[in-house]
Amino acid sequence: MQRLKCLPFLSLLLLAATAAHADTVVVTADHMVDVIAGRVVDHPQITITDGRISDVASQGAPVAAGARRIDLPGMTLLPGLIDMHVHLTSDPLFSGYRPLEFTDNFWTVVGVANAKRTVEAGFTTVRNVGSSNYDDVALKQAIEQGYIPGPRIVPATYAIGATGGHCDDTEFPPSIKTPQTAVADGPEALRAMVRKLRKYGAEVIKFCGTGGVLSKTDTVGAQQYDLTEMKALVDEAHMLGLRVAVHAHGTSGIKDAIRAGVDTIEHASLGDEEAFALAKQHGTYFSMDVYNDDYILAEGEKNGLFKESLEKERMVGRKQRETFRAATKAGVKMIFGTDAGVYPHGTNAKQFVTMVTWGMTPMQAIQAATVTAAEALGRPGDVGAIAVGRFGDLIAVAGDPLANVAALQSVAVVIKGGAVVKQSGQSAAK
Ligand code: ARG
Repeated sequence: MQRLKCLPFLSLLLLAATAAHADTVVVTADHMVDVIAGRVVDHPQITITDGRISDVASQGAPVAAGARRIDLPGMTLLPGLIDMHVHLTSDPLFSGYRPLEFTDNFWTVVGVANAKRTVEAGFTTVRNVGSSNYDDVALKQAIEQGYIPGPRIVPATYAIGATGGHCDDTEFPPSIKTPQTAVADGPEALRAMVRKLRKYGAEVIKFCGTGGVLSKTDTVGAQQYDLTEMKALVDEAHMLGLRVAVHAHGTSGIKDAIRAGVDTIEHASLGDEEAFALAKQHGTYFSMDVYNDDYILAEGEKNGLFKESLEKERMVGRKQRETFRAATKAGVKMIFGTDAGVYPHGTNAKQFVTMVTWGMTPMQAIQAATVTAAEALGRPGDVGAIAVGRFGDLIAVAGDPLANVAALQSVAVVIKGGAVVKQSGQSAAK
């Protein structure tokens, strides 16, 4: 009995001890976009405890004692944005043969600068779907250890590709040997490659299922792995608990990838109604980089892009936007993926306007970059919404992003895990 009597007192002591150590931040603003309900909420008050959201209430609700306050009058809060398709270690200024002027580790440093630009633009989570030298794993570790500012990274490490395909180095003559680190042909080699990339830090698997634009010698619509190969790769990845993203512009490649069980189709440019129906049946997401065309056609030549790539872009760019509109209308699950690296990092949000021009409502475009993206990552408990339990990743913009989605291009405040990364144009980043 004596002991039992002590319990309430003990737990009070314990509570006091945790409270003393808990880092609590309370954020208020005029409005908040509730991406789960698809509506705007007025006068929100969000509490973040030790990096995770612990309360979503209205202003006037009690504020935890000792909490730091971030009051943002006139602003609208949104969850930190998610870009499902970036290449942090690429810079569009160096296209075609221009990257050859630099040493290998130059690209790691480029990634450091781009990670900062990305998080300051309001993208607190990215999926990096292709880099060399396990640079994305290095960036993730450096960000987590607090050495550099940057988003949460889901790294794919290398993009896997077939010999002579989009993810092989096809721009060299036979006498020039390139490392071919992630070139694999046939089901067995593909299974082994998935195992190797996971071993060294891949948290998602990316492969090139059809031709591409920026590669020099392949045909953009042509399929580059057959169904058996795709199935082997996907089965292996899923067995290991990893999701799979496929680079696929071409119609047959998109369909076979969906049949093989791929989780996200990147680009999806030449998808047709049958592909949309398959995607809906399998629950496959489309990640369409619909802004890219503007940048590539305007700047590509100046940046040294292969003339073959410019020709391919002219074939595929507008068609991709038409496909985007049709896929949205058909009800395919859409996620926000820009391919930043092909256009400048930190300007990821430009794509929202293109998505709205081509058939989405602003709310749909925002959901593609938040709640739906988190679902496609398999991390709905962590990111993608202002909801209890998820990370304290918030952004704030002046103006109404639902009336004018371009407001997302000027993010005034970025909070990641309860820590201010940027406020009113000033970077709090180290
Ligand atoms: N990385 C992609 C590729 O090389 C970029 C495609 C850009 N063009 C576009 N219309 N989305 O295929």
